[in-house]
Amino acid sequence: MNLYCAFVVVSVQLAVILAVNGNTEEQGMERCHMGDTSCIKDAANLILRERSHGVEELNLVDLNPLSTGEIVIRGSKGGMVDVDVRFSKSFITGLQNVYVESISGFGEDMVGPHVVKLQSDSNSLVGDYVISGSVLYVPIWGSGKSNMTFYNPRYTLTFHGEPKERDGKAYMSFHDFKVDFSLSRLYIRASNLFNNGFLSDNMNRQLNANWQIIYSELKQPISNEISRVFRKLLDGVFQNEPYNELFLPDSV
Ligand SMILES: *[C@@H]1O[C@H](CO)[C@@H](O)[C@H](O)[C@H]1NC(C)=O
Repeated sequence: MNLYCAFVVVSVQLAVILAVNGNTEEQGMERCHMGDTSCIKDAANLILRERSHGVEELNLVDLNPLSTGEIVIRGSKGGMVDVDVRFSKSFITGLQNVYVESISGFGEDMVGPHVVKLQSDSNSLVGDYVISGSVLYVPIWGSGKSNMTFYNPRYTLTFHGEPKERDGKAYMSFHDFKVDFSLSRLYIRASNLFNNGFLSDNMNRQLNANWQIIYSELKQPISNEISRVFRKLLDGVFQNEPYNELFLPDSV
C-alpha cells in the first residue's frame, strides 16, 4: 500500500524558501535567514497554500497532485500481510492541504539534524495496482485501479545534510533520510481483485475491516517509500541551488 505521504516533502522545501510576496510569479520569493525556523515554516505553508502547482525558481515540482514513479510495497514473508503490491501511473493527492507544524535545523551547520513535522486531513495514493500474496493467510491477487487514503496523517521527516561541492559551491545532499508517520484510519479500495466484482467487493470489505493489521504490518515498507518520494522532491530543491544561497545572506 502506499501511502504516500509525500506531502512531507513539500514542506521541507518550502521551508527553505520563503514567503511569497502576494502571489505573482514575477515578484519571486522572499527568503529566510538560516536557522530562522519560524520564517521557514511560514514560507513553507505559504507555498503549500498558494503555489502547490510548483515553483520553478526552486525547482519544486507540481504537488497538486504529485506524480510518483513506481511504488512497491512488500509485506514480510510468511506474515499476516504477505503481499507484493506495485503501483504505477500513480499520484498523491491532498498535499496542498498539508500544514507544516514545526521545523528545526536548517542552520549554518548543514549537517543538522533537520526535522519537519507535517499534518493533513487526508492524503490519497491513487493509480494502477498489481497485487499478489496473502492477507490474513487468505490468497489475494489482481490488478486494476486503487485508492489508498490516510486520514489525519502526521509525518515527521528527519534527515542530515552533507555538503557536496559543485563548481566551488556547497550543495546539501541528504543522508539518513527517514519518515515516520501515524494516521487515524487507513482506507483501501482496490477494484477488480480476482478479476471478479463480487469477490473483489468482499475482499475490499475484509481489507478495510482489518485496516489496523494491514497498517501495522506494512508501516515500515510504506514509510520507506514515503521517504523515497519526499527525498526526491527535496533533492530537486536542494540540488538546484547552493545551500547558502537558499537563504538571506546575513545571519539573524
Ligand atoms: C480516494 O478515496 C477517498 C476516500 O474515499 C476519497 O475521498 C477520494 O476522493 C478518492 N480519490 C480519488 C481520486 O478517487
